[in-house]
Amino acid sequence: MTDLSTVLDPFPHLHIRPPQGWVNDPNGIGHWEGRWHVFYQYNPDAPVHENIHWGHASSTDLLTWRDEPVALAPRPGTIDAAGAWSGVATMDDGEPVLVYTAVPDVAANAGVALAHRGADGAWVPDDALAAPAPGGDLREIRDPFLFTAGGARYALMGGGRTDGTPVVLVYAADDLGHWELLGDLLDGSDPVATGVAPGKIWECPQLVALPDGAGRLRWVLILSLWDDSGDHHLQGVAALVGDLDLSGPHPAFRPAAGQRLDTGPDFYAPQAVAGPDRTLLWGWTWEARFRSAAEVAGAGWAGALTLPRELSLDGDRVDSVPARELTGLRRARLPVAGSGAEVTVPAWEAVADGGLVVGLRGRDGEREVWRTPAGAHVGSRVLVDGSVVEAFAGPDAHTVRAYPGPGEVWTVRAGGGLSVWELGRPSP
Ligand code: FRU
Repeated sequence: MTDLSTVLDPFPHLHIRPPQGWVNDPNGIGHWEGRWHVFYQYNPDAPVHENIHWGHASSTDLLTWRDEPVALAPRPGTIDAAGAWSGVATMDDGEPVLVYTAVPDVAANAGVALAHRGADGAWVPDDALAAPAPGGDLREIRDPFLFTAGGARYALMGGGRTDGTPVVLVYAADDLGHWELLGDLLDGSDPVATGVAPGKIWECPQLVALPDGAGRLRWVLILSLWDDSGDHHLQGVAALVGDLDLSGPHPAFRPAAGQRLDTGPDFYAPQAVAGPDRTLLWGWTWEARFRSAAEVAGAGWAGALTLPRELSLDGDRVDSVPARELTGLRRARLPVAGSGAEVTVPAWEAVADGGLVVGLRGRDGEREVWRTPAGAHVGSRVLVDGSVVEAFAGPDAHTVRAYPGPGEVWTVRAGGGLSVWELGRPSP
């Protein structure tokens, strides 16, 4: 008998997000003083995108996250009065610095600002901009990203032109406090970009160098695709693989291939961080279309970061898999009957040798949430935490939200061998 009085908790307790309020993009990811630091776009007051702060969590193991004090808050009457939007962290003279989009009134006028740590550990934003809004035929320029190439430090900003072409701008940023606009790293007229990265603006550009498996270093440009000509602005995330051309007056990206970084409907604005031995990536997963504004308001929370993923290149293909540490979330094994299981805990993981089908079953039958697409994949893996489903067909990621209804339980069926675990934080 289905017990309609019980509902599996939709809150993703193992993911980075505070108990209340709105969360969108991951920001400022870095590792310093022995801890991972992940910041995120945050409205502490309501589960809506308004009055955006930088929330902050830290971890030593990528499994257990400690909520830290809010790092940045809009300051009335200043360069960030209307919000501290997305950006990154960098190390400057051995000290972490936050580099963010300062919105004075409307996003069109946003510039770049820096925040340094004060003596008490609190983040102290500058009063002046490191780069102003560029104006001209450029629009919605935001989301700073920093990288070094050829011995120089450069910055990227995403946005578009008034004619509807998306663009990534490149700046000289050796002097972190005073950037100089150099030109376009890439724009939407590039034929590879037109095919896989359509949109009116490109948000949150991320550029990382990865070995391609054949001893060659390639560059990967990650773009979040935004189109404000229709109702639904978020159009997914593209990853372009190519070369960085440093021979001209400014760096230019020459894409050779591209793909969707995540094939799911509920993944956006990821941030990649290159470490000494691997590149990690977190994204934002937002409340899906089947969660009404009234339900979100009632719950008091919206949005979460994804679990961390490791990026790698296989030739021209960008692969993403769960960070290796995440097996540390596995607790007790859950029973498998034949090659299927019914799961009655809110956080769990399934690993199959072949394909998988994940669903929710209740009194009125079963609804499918995800299935491994047909094609050649090496195994399937699904991590479910509340309403966040992160599925991997081999190295292809797919993020989708699903909210268990009254009396519903998760179901998982595999074509072959199947293992299922409950997930939870490691005991301290
Ligand atoms: C992407 C984005 C960024 C912006 C931030 C505002 O989701 O629109 O371009 O900086 O969110 O919260």
